[in-house]
Amino acid sequence: MSDIAADASSSRTHADVRNTTLFLKRWLANPLQMGSVIPSSPALCSRIAALVRRAEDEVVVELGAGTGVISRALLAAGVPPKNLVVVEIVRDMADHLRTALPGVNVIQGDAFELPRALPRELHGKVGTVICGIPLVLLPLEQQKRFVDAVEAVAPGKGFLLYTYCITSPLPYRKLGLTAKREAWTPLNLPPASVWRYQPQR
Ligand SMILES: C[S@@+](CC[C@H](N)C(=O)[O-])C[C@H]1O[C@@H](n2cnc3c(N)ncnc32)[C@H](O)[C@@H]1O
Repeated sequence: MSDIAADASSSRTHADVRNTTLFLKRWLANPLQMGSVIPSSPALCSRIAALVRRAEDEVVVELGAGTGVISRALLAAGVPPKNLVVVEIVRDMADHLRTALPGVNVIQGDAFELPRALPRELHGKVGTVICGIPLVLLPLEQQKRFVDAVEAVAPGKGFLLYTYCITSPLPYRKLGLTAKREAWTPLNLPPASVWRYQPQR
């Protein structure tokens, strides 16, 4: 292994450990808000990245970016940093994301207040919304609030949601959505699916 490769792999390992430690700390502080003990696996991140749809002038909005593992997969899949917006409610994590993701628009804010959190000029300019927030644990009216918040900034687009549930984590008909499971991977702890929800026409 060259020195450069060795450096790259050792710093990646260091970053992975830091990511997992930060994640675990937040999980201990607020397990319901985190929804998972460890960050998403590379296999899940690349499946999510492959499902992104975006015109050249549109942004991808990732809600609940955590330590940024999915954000990095989106960048690796070709989303330019200036076209990626990540929203994270926990200040420590948002600070970490600002350092870890140069050029990316990191917003420390609440995804349920997306119309206020997302800059006005990006409303209607969103290609794909990706949600990492554990919506399955929330009551229907909160889920509806989330759906409405996304619809306000990305009309008709819906969102991708990754989940450990075997069936749809959302009661999509009650929420006025269509649902399609577009990916599944056993290479995540636990195995995970990616669902695409869109408003019913
Ligand atoms: C399951 S973790 C996903 C983290 C990362 N995307 C991954 O795949 O490893 C959920 C993340 O959503 C964040 N979160 C929870 N509620 C939120 C909200 N209302 N608005 C923004 N972020 C939120 C949590 O702080 C946490 O970082």
